[in-house]
Amino acid sequence: MWTAQAENRLRGRAGPATVTRMLVRRETPEDAAAVRAVHTAAFADPSEPHRVPVEATLVDELRASDAWLPALSLVCAGAEGEILGHVVCTRARIAGEPVALGLGPLGVAPAAQRRGVGSALMHAVLGAADALDEPIVVLVGHTEYYPRFGFSPAADLGITPPVAEWGAHFQARPLGAYRPALRGPFAYAAPFNL
Ligand SMILES: CC(C)(COP(=O)(O)OP(=O)(O)OC[C@H]1O[C@@H](n2cnc3c(N)ncnc32)[C@H](O)[C@@H]1OP(=O)(O)O)[C@@H](O)C(=O)NCCC(=O)NCCS
Repeated sequence: MWTAQAENRLRGRAGPATVTRMLVRRETPEDAAAVRAVHTAAFADPSEPHRVPVEATLVDELRASDAWLPALSLVCAGAEGEILGHVVCTRARIAGEPVALGLGPLGVAPAAQRRGVGSALMHAVLGAADALDEPIVVLVGHTEYYPRFGFSPAADLGITPPVAEWGAHFQARPLGAYRPALRGPFAYAAPFNL
C-alpha cells in the first residue's frame, strides 16, 4: 500500500536523481566518437589515467568486423542529445555455430552512473535481441549487476567459457527463441581476442 512514509523511504534509498529525460536509440555514424569517449571514461583506470581502455578501441574494432549487428548497438542520449551510455551485442558462437550474441561493452559516463542509464540500455538491447529472434545473450560481467536482467551462470545451461577463470562472471540470458540444445563452448567475435 502506498503511504507518504513508504515513498520517502524509497526516495531516501534512491541515491542520485534519475535522469529526467533519456532517449535510447540505435547508434548512428555521427555517434562513434561520443561512444568511444563514453567507454574511455567509463572504463578508465585511475592508476593509469592516460591509457585508453581496451573497451574503447574494442567497439571500433567490432564495428569494422563482420560480427557487427547495427540493430543491436544502442546509445542513451540525455536532454541535450549528449551521449550518456552505450551498449552493443555482436555475433558470437556456441559450438562453432553463429547462434548467440555476445554483449559488451556496456558503459555509462561516470557523471551519469547510477541514474538508470545502464538499466535502460540493458532492457532495450535485450528486447531488441528478442524481437530479432536471437535465442541467447552471453556476457562476462559483474555478478551483482546482471542477474537483475535475467542473467545467470552460463555453465548452468551447458555453455562453457573460453577462459575457465571467468567462472560465475560468465553469464547468459535465454530469450524467447532459446532451446536447450544450445550447448557447448562459447566464442566471442574475433576482436575480443585481439
Ligand atoms: C555498470 C554500469 C554499466 C551500470 O550502469 P548505471 O547506469 O550506473 O546503472 P543503473 O543506474 O542502471 O543501475 C544502478 C544499479 O546498479 C548497481 N551497480 C552499478 N554498477 C554496479 C557494479 N559494478 N556491480 C554491481 N552493481 C552495480 C548499483 O548499485 C545500482 O543498484 P541499486 O539501484 O540497487 O542501488 C556503469 O556503472 C558503468 O559503466 N560502469 C563502468 C564500466 C563497467 O563496469 N561496465 C560493465 C562491465 S561488466
